[in-house]
Amino acid sequence: MAEVIWGLATSHVPSIGAAMDNGKTDNEYWKPLFDGYRPAREWMAQHRPDVAIIVYNDHANALDIDMVPTFAIGMADKYRVADEGFGPRPVPDVVGDPDLSFHLLQQLVDAGFDMTAIQNLDVDHGLTVPLSVYCPEPGDAWPCAVVPLLVNVLQYPQPTAARCYELGKALGEAIRSYERDVKVAVFGTGGMSHQLAGERAGLINPEFDRMFLDKIQTDPEYLAGLTREDYIRDAGSEGFELVMWLTMRGALNEQITRIHDVYHVPASNTAAALALFDNRAES
Ligand code: DHB
Ligand code: FE
Repeated sequence: MAEVIWGLATSHVPSIGAAMDNGKTDNEYWKPLFDGYRPAREWMAQHRPDVAIIVYNDHANALDIDMVPTFAIGMADKYRVADEGFGPRPVPDVVGDPDLSFHLLQQLVDAGFDMTAIQNLDVDHGLTVPLSVYCPEPGDAWPCAVVPLLVNVLQYPQPTAARCYELGKALGEAIRSYERDVKVAVFGTGGMSHQLAGERAGLINPEFDRMFLDKIQTDPEYLAGLTREDYIRDAGSEGFELVMWLTMRGALNEQITRIHDVYHVPASNTAAALALFDNRAES
């Protein structure tokens, strides 16, 4: 049977990807963040999954704002890297796992999550930057297959934190009921506090972020109980992306081991973070 071996929560800021693509990770601005990634990257390189389920949001690159599914899942055997205006990032296209996608779709729909099934999907920074955080030098191919799981965090009414956490729990059950013997990693992407537009553009809230970084391991129920308004007030309008960390958390065991975390301000307009959790019961 399939097993979730680890969960990774990580920011997906486009300029983190651009720093890697343009060889700037050692400069004064970026070095502290990339140094912070190193222990997590080393551990993940020693614990390679066969497939990663990446919970992310499209930023109106593949999905037009005309049609916004609340929850969706990629069904394809390949996802092209999206052109977000400067040409696609110079990273490999993403190989899918249609058999696992179909299993997850079926199980999630049966569990009451009416997922939209997407056959054709170009993946934007929301997915490719987390892959680069995991694997900075993929060469010709990423080291694992990927199933994209999309959450609407852009357009009101977004799903609640509680619903995202429940989706994660159903996702965990669906993975564990998959008969192929595959090792799975689950990524929760986005955050931490940030707001890109409006009067509060530039908002960063370290106190909220530190609380969230702690409770994502120890008390996810508390985070699931916060309202949409709580998130947007305390973490900013785009900080709402943090509900995707809760989806990842829901797929993990109650008891998990923190391997490493980093919190760094600023990365572009965000408080950037990474938190890596070992999900294996024996460890
Ligand atoms: C930035 C952050 C995001 O989460 C995003 O999707 C786009 C841009 C930023 O801070 O630049
Ligand atoms: Fe984003």
